[in-house]
Amino acid sequence: MLRIALQKSGRLSEASLKLIKECGISFTNGTGKLKTIADNFPAEFLFLRDDDIPRYVADGVADIGIVGENVVVEDRSEVVITKALGFSKCRLSIAIPRSEMYEGIESLQGKHIATSYPNILRDFLNKNGIDATIHEISGSVEIAPSIGLADAVCDIVSTGSTLMSNGLKEVEVIFRSQAVLIQTPVLNEEKQAILQKLLFRIEAVQNARNNKYILLNAPKEAIPAIIDILPGMKSPTVLPLAMEGWYSLHSVIQEDQFWEIIEQLKAAGAEGILVVPIEKMIY
Ligand code: PRP
Ligand code: ZN
Repeated sequence: MLRIALQKSGRLSEASLKLIKECGISFTNGTGKLKTIADNFPAEFLFLRDDDIPRYVADGVADIGIVGENVVVEDRSEVVITKALGFSKCRLSIAIPRSEMYEGIESLQGKHIATSYPNILRDFLNKNGIDATIHEISGSVEIAPSIGLADAVCDIVSTGSTLMSNGLKEVEVIFRSQAVLIQTPVLNEEKQAILQKLLFRIEAVQNARNNKYILLNAPKEAIPAIIDILPGMKSPTVLPLAMEGWYSLHSVIQEDQFWEIIEQLKAAGAEGILVVPIEKMIY
């Protein structure tokens, strides 16, 4: 059985659970439970504070975990980052009171900065030759300037609303982060095989998110031009319609090419274009 650590509650928890669900893994989680076994996959889930996840995975208490890259890099635990998951994107930034002037990094010289990320911040300050004092605090970093504890903060920014409501402005982005899957350095063969199974499913889910299924109708003479536009997994499916001389073409297009391709298809003579989400996609 593979032990998987997930965040109990916070920025990552909802998206992590959604990914697990889309991988076809279900469990009955009595709310507030710290541990649960999957109904249909050889896995056990541990629900932990995100900050603790790298350590549990490094120690082998959990085999793998889903956590913010920011937490992994700050923690310096010996874990392997297996895969970037593309959700819960955020940045670690330095922010100062809105009323303060900022003229570049030099403005931080001699300042007091409150943070829960002393390691990443120290590296950044050293690299830039800034001599500032780091105050390590474990939470509610954003109030430090208003209570006179620090001149600046270094904290996670996602929408920016926390900074805004505390009268702070973001002046330096020092690290960009997203959710990652981490694993313990040594996994036995059996667990490795379960992990491969899970990674295969995660990839199918990620591919599906980046692609759409497209169906369209076209007259026979337009088909060659349309095939040139549609990449497809191999080549598009072409099916005759009941109406003489007309065909239905099916293919897969990438989300980011979507609007451009639709324009080209219309120009080439496509009609009745349908674009539908894909649930899973395996190459
Ligand atoms: C971070 C940070 C802020 C908030 C910023 O906390 O400490 O409180 O997110 O988000 P916003 O820009 O959307 O307002 P996080 O979710 O990482 O929680 P944690 O520090 O308790 O783990
Ligand atoms: Zn946390």
